[in-house]
Amino acid sequence: MSIAVCPGSFDPVTFGHIDIISRASKIFDKVIVLVSINPNKEASFTVSERVNMLKAVTEGIENVVIDAYDGLLADYTRKQGASAIVKGLRAVSDFEYEFQMALANKKLYSNAETIFFTTTSENMYLSSSVVKQIASLGGDITGFVPDEILETIKNRLNKGVQ
Ligand code: PNS
Repeated sequence: MSIAVCPGSFDPVTFGHIDIISRASKIFDKVIVLVSINPNKEASFTVSERVNMLKAVTEGIENVVIDAYDGLLADYTRKQGASAIVKGLRAVSDFEYEFQMALANKKLYSNAETIFFTTTSENMYLSSSVVKQIASLGGDITGFVPDEILETIKNRLNKGVQ
C-alpha cells in the first residue's frame, strides 16, 4: 500500500491545502495529513482545533486520515511506513525553505521522497497567514476556507473589527 504524509501547520487549513490533499489522495492509497510543529510560527489554533477543522473539511475523501505529531516528521514517516512526503509549492519564495527541509528529511530518513505539487493558479496567493490577517481585520474569508470552518476562524480571530 502506498502511503504519503502531507505535513503542515494547517493554522488554519485553506482551500490551497485541500487542493493538495485531494490531488495526493488520487495518487496514493492512503494520505496522512499531519498537523506538525513549526518552531518558526506561533499558532492561533490548538493542535486539536486544527485536527478537527481538517477532519471536517476532508470528510468526503475516504483515503485521507488526520493525525498530529510533535516530533520529527522523518521519524513519523518512518513509523508509518510512508514512502512520500507531499508538500505544496506556491511560488519561488517557498522553494528555498522547502528544498532545505526536503534535503534534511532525506538525510534523516532516506526511504521517503519529498514530492512537491505545484499550486493551482487560483490558490497561488493563498496562505493561512493571509486568511488570518483578513479575518482578524473583519474581512470576508468566504472563498479562502470551506464553510464548515468559517465560524471557528471568525470567532477566534475577529475581535470586533467590522
Ligand atoms: O505549514 P508549514 O508551517 O510550512 O509546515 C512546516 C512543517 C510543520 C511541515 C515543518 O516545520 C515540520 O516538518 N515540522 C516537524 C518537525 C520537523 O521534522 N522539522 C524539520 C526538520 S528538517
